[in-house]
Amino acid sequence: MRIVLRIGGSVIASPINIDLIKQYATLLKDLKRHGHEVAAVVGGGILAREFIAIAKSLSLNENAQDDVAISVSRIFAQLFLEKLGEAGCESVPLTVEDAAKCLQKEKIVVMGGLKPGMTTDTVAALLADKVNADLLVKATNQEGVYNKDPKKYADAVKLDHLSFNALTDVFAEGKHKAGIKQIIDPEAVKLLKRKRVKMIIVNGFKPENVLAAVKGEQVGTVID
Ligand code: UTP
Repeated sequence: MRIVLRIGGSVIASPINIDLIKQYATLLKDLKRHGHEVAAVVGGGILAREFIAIAKSLSLNENAQDDVAISVSRIFAQLFLEKLGEAGCESVPLTVEDAAKCLQKEKIVVMGGLKPGMTTDTVAALLADKVNADLLVKATNQEGVYNKDPKKYADAVKLDHLSFNALTDVFAEGKHKAGIKQIIDPEAVKLLKRKRVKMIIVNGFKPENVLAAVKGEQVGTVID
């Protein structure tokens, strides 16, 4: 399978979790060893937000704020590639075209942000589209998509399976429920829906969830 793995900065970088970064580097290698083609997209987490705040304090515009956040995400991607050594791309791809080329060379791709005005979710969706991925797994800081904001409602229920259309409805309902909206960028969802790329959202604090998702076991929320 060709897999795009979106690793949330909220998971590996908020605060920076060296053990988890190690576990994800091992997981990427394991997936490759099992015959999968893997491309990961990482975000910059808290450090990226700190740089955004610094840029703001310096009265820099939103483009510049995004640019520094992108640079931070790329440092995390670089860490992964350094750790992967020969198994990974030579350097952090700066475009989806370069990422696709690296994947063709049978290397593990790890990249960060692409350009201002988008999120890393959208980068993952663009990459999934570019390489015709079979699956996009988002490793995030929640168990999956809930019927309502779990931070506000104790009776919120995690949904095992959703259609893209139903997810779009959750976003519409979630206008005032920030937690739900944030689980995945609606822009990324639009793209995946159009390209019919299956997505599975899992709790990324347990990397074994990603393996389970790839094996087709019930975990997190499956969206197709
Ligand atoms: P994300 O919010 O996508 O990363 O990007 P994250 O840290 O992995 O977040 P979680 O785990 O999903 O919560 C952080 C910021 O970086 C900029 C945006 O400002 C975004 O809010 N960014 C990222 C870009 O401008 N362009 C990109 O391509 C990626």
